[in-house]
Amino acid sequence: MSVVRFSVSLEEELLKELDDYIKDNNFANRSQGLRYLIEKNIVEKKWQCNNIVAGAVVMIYDHHKKEILARSNDIQHDYFDVILSSQHYHLNHDICLEIIAVKGKANILTELADKLISIKGIRHGKLLMSKAD
Ligand code: NI
Repeated sequence: MSVVRFSVSLEEELLKELDDYIKDNNFANRSQGLRYLIEKNIVEKKWQCNNIVAGAVVMIYDHHKKEILARSNDIQHDYFDVILSSQHYHLNHDICLEIIAVKGKANILTELADKLISIKGIRHGKLLMSKAD
């Protein structure tokens, strides 16, 4: 594939952050770092579609907040047809890690993950997906 050169204007501060990111991730140069960031974001955008994908929703939360569990349970029942399994780990006295394996249309999984991750009190949440068809 042919490579096209183009110039980019960035604020100094943002450029410094980009260079730090490139250094931290051992990219060879700015082009490689930018290529990675662009592909990552555009691929994620393609996931807003009807492709069948599989992945996991990962969440970390404080188990003392009972309303998180109740809300998460309600949401998961609404999406039972795309949830393969869920695992719950008690990381310590307070913190739980939950991994929900999912398979289905990318846009439905994104909708499910957005609902789960936005539950008030969730400390960290992320959806990981790969093509599955
Ligand atoms: Ni727990």
